[in-house]
Amino acid sequence: MKQVIEVKREGKKPSNVVIGDVIDELEGYLPAGSRVIVITDSNIHRRYKEIINRYEHLLIGLGETCKTLVTVSNLYDELLNLNADRSTFILGIGGGIVTDVTGFVASTYMRGLPFGFVATTLLAQVDASVGGKNGVNLEGYKNMIGTFNQPDFVLCDLSLLDTLPEQEFRAGLAEMIKAGLIADRGLFELFEQHTLEEFRHDRVLLQEAVKRAIQVKADIVARDEKEQGDRRKLNLGHTFAHAIEKSSRAFLHGEAVAIGTVMIARLSARLGRITDQEAERVRRVYERMGLPVDSGIELRRLIKALKHDKKKEASSVNFVLMKGLGDCEVQPFTFEEIDTMTL
Ligand SMILES: NC(=O)c1ccc[n+]([C@@H]2O[C@H](COP(=O)([O-])OP(=O)(O)OC[C@H]3O[C@@H](n4cnc5c(N)ncnc54)[C@H](O)[C@@H]3O)[C@@H](O)[C@H]2O)c1
Ligand SMILES: [Zn+2]
Repeated sequence: MKQVIEVKREGKKPSNVVIGDVIDELEGYLPAGSRVIVITDSNIHRRYKEIINRYEHLLIGLGETCKTLVTVSNLYDELLNLNADRSTFILGIGGGIVTDVTGFVASTYMRGLPFGFVATTLLAQVDASVGGKNGVNLEGYKNMIGTFNQPDFVLCDLSLLDTLPEQEFRAGLAEMIKAGLIADRGLFELFEQHTLEEFRHDRVLLQEAVKRAIQVKADIVARDEKEQGDRRKLNLGHTFAHAIEKSSRAFLHGEAVAIGTVMIARLSARLGRITDQEAERVRRVYERMGLPVDSGIELRRLIKALKHDKKKEASSVNFVLMKGLGDCEVQPFTFEEIDTMTL
């Protein structure tokens, strides 16, 4: 079964996110007659050669350390060598690293080429490939360089997740639970009602959860494409998650989000926005899905990393706090308030 979610774009046709058995129809989503250049990584190329080798393709390195301007610059050179021009369509096939880099390269090369994605990790399907934020890190600062520019389409074929390592699958679930906590209580409750095994093997259940997580993001992006307000809610759990990622290499992004969201649930309970029982439900759900709920890093160290991360901005940090389960709000905290924070 196929489901389509339209994400509104300023001044253009909506960006279509297609969920379901769709990879065999890839050709039909590409603009007829256009030259297509694929950007992917070596892992995905190895597993999905028969799809990727149909097109001219460029490979990038693996992991967050390759999400840099050096990688971008190499891709510009390679596109130039291939004589890519504004009629070339760029197709990113991969996880969030590939889609973030591809979206940025396609948005800036010759002032912008049309592009689309085949999202191959759960995290990319429900989060990274949707909504048009793209970009790279700069000197260890996450996503410092980038644009807002949505792809023409995102294909989310769940069968591609069969080859995804279990840990990466769980990391994707972390962002889906986060989406439920932001705006879909029923989605959050799905994770209380079903086991990790069921999400891994029950395609109908997984598709329902993926669709709802994408819908949460699509609704928010439609209201606030350029992150002037409401879109900040999508950063639930990410303030601490980024501090954890800065302090330790032990966790995948989604795992850091799980820990960061549990910390925010505790903070929200402390501030009286949710009950202690609700905070405990959040912790239990992440634990049920086999995700870490504690980084083992001291809070003071995380706060130091968090302040360092924000040093180029004002003297306050926006936290997304929970207001019950399935609703949240953004609240700035001054550095002084953060320094005296306890959880
Ligand atoms: N732009 C956004 O809105 C947004 C949102 C969330 C996250 N992100 C970014 O996404 C990135 C993380 O993305 P990710 O978790 O997808 O990581 P990733 O792209 O590194 O993929 C994880 C690993 O899985 C491999 N892989 C991908 N698909 C596979 C498949 N089908 N089978 C087997 N292996 C496969 C990759 O080669 C990689 O080794 C971070 O840089 C994060 O900042 C961006
Ligand atoms: Zn994230």
